[in-house]
Amino acid sequence: MSIKVIVAGFKGRMGSTAVDMVKNDDELELAALLDPFAAEKEIDGVPVFTDKNDLIGFDAHVWVDFTVPKVAYENTHFALEHGFRPVVGTTGFTQEQIADLTALSADKKTGGLIAPNFAIGAVLLMEFAAKASKYFPDLEIIELHHDKKKDAPSGTAIKTAELIQEVRNYKKQGAADEEETLAGARGAEFDGFRIHSVRLPGLVAHQEVIFGAQGEGLTLRHDSYDRISFMSGVNLGIKEVVKREQLVYGLEHLL
Ligand SMILES: NC(=O)c1ccc[n+]([C@@H]2O[C@H](COP(=O)([O-])OP(=O)(O)OC[C@H]3O[C@@H](n4cnc5c(N)ncnc54)[C@H](O)[C@@H]3O)[C@@H](O)[C@H]2O)c1
Repeated sequence: MSIKVIVAGFKGRMGSTAVDMVKNDDELELAALLDPFAAEKEIDGVPVFTDKNDLIGFDAHVWVDFTVPKVAYENTHFALEHGFRPVVGTTGFTQEQIADLTALSADKKTGGLIAPNFAIGAVLLMEFAAKASKYFPDLEIIELHHDKKKDAPSGTAIKTAELIQEVRNYKKQGAADEEETLAGARGAEFDGFRIHSVRLPGLVAHQEVIFGAQGEGLTLRHDSYDRISFMSGVNLGIKEVVKREQLVYGLEHLL
């Protein structure tokens, strides 16, 4: 039996790439499409919705979400409430929202995944960065994305910072008497280290974690040159959440 998939945000850059991935996998079936900006009623026999409430009671197993940060929480909540297992790439969740959705999924015994980055290389970068921070507590994160991205810093940068925080001994970096003569010059502060967001046309999704120590440096970098880089992770997520009864935050929990 194929896994029936709803794609929310199918008109967008990531949503449209996810639609192609689902269509090209015989184990998956594109069941419905959702986007408030859709004018079509159906595409190649697949029903199109502009309001999620019209999907209540719809026959589908998984809700893939690549929408916008301001609806990420309500969409994921809606999916769990109505028996669709969420596979969410949309960014912008707070830690409280993730905790809340994890509790709801446990309550509903419904699997799910929120992954700030579906690219395997990015997941590895996060893991390597956390490991290195134990030995190199002085670090800065630089994330670089296309200039249409709505949230900053990226979900990947936040997740990387959280993983580092778990391992690194707290340290307030920089000179004690450091002064910003131009506000924001030193980036955002997270647990004593800095995160910088670059937005330029031509970029897709990139991240560097730069470590510095006495007389040496270490730079870890990951590049997504194409949105196809996220699709093996989304595919894995769809196939795993149907077997599980609890939402997880981070693709590494399914690898
Ligand atoms: N997890 C990852 O690996 C990963 C990778 C790239 C991007 N992202 C994130 O995915 C999200 C989407 O990125 P994008 O570049 O495709 O954005 P986009 O702006 O190209 O597409 C977003 C789409 O969502 C639609 N939308 C808005 N509100 C909606 C709603 N309530 N219900 C359904 N659809 C709605 C919009 O009409 C649009 O078509 C962003 O949060 C981005 O940061 C995640």
